[in-house]
Amino acid sequence: MEKVVVGAAIVDGDGKLLAAQRADPPELAGGWELPGGKVDPGEDEHTALVRECQEELGVLIEVGERVGGDWALAGGYVLRVWLAVVAEGKLEAREHLDLRWLGADELYDVAWLPADLPIVRAVQGR
Ligand code: C5P
Repeated sequence: MEKVVVGAAIVDGDGKLLAAQRADPPELAGGWELPGGKVDPGEDEHTALVRECQEELGVLIEVGERVGGDWALAGGYVLRVWLAVVAEGKLEAREHLDLRWLGADELYDVAWLPADLPIVRAVQGR
């Protein structure tokens, strides 16, 4: 079975990108990522992405275009990323240490997880 992690590049009306600071596991804690998580068995990727953002951020997202292809992760996982916007709700860091909206000139002000860095570059190009 494919091991897929889905991620959301959530942008706001000003073109800022949402970054989320991981709380765990210890080796990733403090690093910044695009929110998301593992696709459950039998779940489609779109459903997983909406579910993860609801659980982690307390918002309903509207999913847009895919960013890039399969981004390799450790442990045989691939990360698939979509642009998204917040459709409903107020952002809350329910599982992360912190959330930040990053403008174009701030995109590299946070310590992105190594896997997410090339994706941020790809998002910047859009
Ligand atoms: O969020 P979750 O723990 O389900 O993600 C599974 C794994 O995918 C993490 O351990 C992390 O290594 C990786 N990941 C990542 N970048 C993301 C989301 C997840 O590198 N944006």
